[in-house]
Amino acid sequence: MSETGIPTEKESEFTMLFKQLAVPLASEVVDVDLSRSLDDDSFKAIDEAFNDRGVLVFRGQQITPEQHIRFSRRFGELEIHVLKQYLLADAPEILVISNMMKDGKPVGIADAGQQWHTDLSYVEKPSRCSILYAKEIPAPGRDQTYGDTCFVSTEAAYDSLDPDMKAYLGTLQAKHSYLKRPHIRKKLSEEQKQAVPDVIHPVIRTHPVTGRKCVYVNESFTTEIIGLKPDESDALIRQLCALCESERFMYRHKWRVGDILMWDNCSTQHLAVADYGPDQHRLMNRTTVAGPAVF
Ligand code: SIN
Repeated sequence: MSETGIPTEKESEFTMLFKQLAVPLASEVVDVDLSRSLDDDSFKAIDEAFNDRGVLVFRGQQITPEQHIRFSRRFGELEIHVLKQYLLADAPEILVISNMMKDGKPVGIADAGQQWHTDLSYVEKPSRCSILYAKEIPAPGRDQTYGDTCFVSTEAAYDSLDPDMKAYLGTLQAKHSYLKRPHIRKKLSEEQKQAVPDVIHPVIRTHPVTGRKCVYVNESFTTEIIGLKPDESDALIRQLCALCESERFMYRHKWRVGDILMWDNCSTQHLAVADYGPDQHRLMNRTTVAGPAVF
């Protein structure tokens, strides 16, 4: 552990090596094979590092959907996404994110996560974490990568606020809606829309494990700060989103096939960079771990 409390590079008792990837968040876990069942000590080391760092990267993995689900279940129950058309037929815990087509139909969500967001902030009990496995990436093997995913630390964003602003924001609540974005609304049937009513969460939430405070307002799903006039509410949402999305709180992941990435949906936000064309195939499998009510 460094003097700042951020793990730098350490060997756990279980010969697990964590390499820090950026200052406020993200570490790589070296030499772990997630196709195998983890013993309790190894899982504990990963779980602790995850709660501390917000994003963990595992390179060079080769896992089946069943192994992906087994690893994910160590962190909690799995969510079944409302967009049922993009779930694996024989493993509905897996949501497919892809721009590929099969028999004239999209195999997954082509435009998932292309604005800053945190998964499932639009439900009463948002996801604890999401675990994404890269099966195909655009233009592999080149120096330039495409379809990177960027992460920011909402804890670091909170910590950067002055005490008066922290106290003010601590009194506020915000509405979150899955239907905020027209391109999402378009994909949903009436029944699917009914399944995701708007919800209200505190603007500043407390991490359920670490107790650290995080800014919980995001560009994709936060529609309104309760009790403010519409122009004040819009301005505050813009201000908090701009703060969270700042490069000083960011880690940008350059994907390789076989990467598994997991991120904390309380202490981070993420964005999938849409800089590749329809002929550059990207195929990812995601599990979404359930989380507690926000407080
Ligand atoms: C997501 O928001 O879950 C998608 C992230 C990605 O495809 O990089």
